[in-house]
Amino acid sequence: MKHLLKMSDLSKADIIDILNLADQLKYELAHNIPHRHLEGKTLGMIFQKSSTRTRVSFETGMYQLGGNALFLSSRDLQIGRGEPVQDTARVLSRYLDGIMIRTFAQQEVEDLAGYGNIPIINGLTDYCHPCQVLADLMTIREYKGQFEGLKMCYIGDGNNMANSLIVGGLTVGMDVAVACPEGYRPDSSVIKFAEGYEGKFTLTDKPLEAAANADVLFTDVWASMGQEGEAELRRKAFAGYQINDEIMAAAKRDAMVQHCLPAHREEEITAKVFEAHADEIFDEAENRLHAQKAVMVKLMK
Ligand code: CP
Ligand code: NVA
Repeated sequence: MKHLLKMSDLSKADIIDILNLADQLKYELAHNIPHRHLEGKTLGMIFQKSSTRTRVSFETGMYQLGGNALFLSSRDLQIGRGEPVQDTARVLSRYLDGIMIRTFAQQEVEDLAGYGNIPIINGLTDYCHPCQVLADLMTIREYKGQFEGLKMCYIGDGNNMANSLIVGGLTVGMDVAVACPEGYRPDSSVIKFAEGYEGKFTLTDKPLEAAANADVLFTDVWASMGQEGEAELRRKAFAGYQINDEIMAAAKRDAMVQHCLPAHREEEITAKVFEAHADEIFDEAENRLHAQKAVMVKLMK
């Protein structure tokens, strides 16, 4: 494994390997056991979009691993003034030991990996959010102990989160059911990937159908970063695609709820369901730290 560009870069064995290391690093942190695997190393973090969790967890994680992290806003980098990503990649490769990038186009992340010669980590694009889904899988395993035989349900926009959850969930052996309105379906490459998992994947426009007997329910915002202008249109398109009491009643009695955050209460999830599952959701947010530390150790050590 040289980079983490998208979920489909990872085999089941890769994912389990990362999650095992993440569990170990979480244990070591909790017990004050030093784990300075990246002493003297520097991670550059390029952000073309806002972030709370990704920025703070990568920066803190790098510190805990004995390394250094640089916050590089695209507003300040020459990339924001049009310097090609190909040149940025080759320059930053001379200074840094790894780059985490959050941007719009997946191609930009792929180009960074293609032109640079240091590990590239995708910290969210319009296409996918692999770091988040590694934390999600870590949290599911913590609560449920396994993946096989579990049903994951995703309700809402067929966006970066849906794309990565489908690939991640199927890869580790879960059944995955997705409910999206027509016109807001996951990326065609992801649907194609899922077609290779006959009998394990369903795509519907009926949220109750997707939620039936689910063990884990996911949703995400109706308008992602960069889609603010479509917010009103999307509010209409996604009415009814909400995790609420009715959806929870269709799922298993002990079903978990996960949300990558930030959440919009009373849009994609009711405040009542959110608060009833807050422990699971904030464990999920915490696990970003541990899962990404594992990714950095695997890629940069
Ligand atoms: N879930 C997530 O990536 O959060 P941030 O946008 O705050 O980084
Ligand atoms: N789909 C959301 C996820 C935020 C972590 C977005 O792209 O804005």
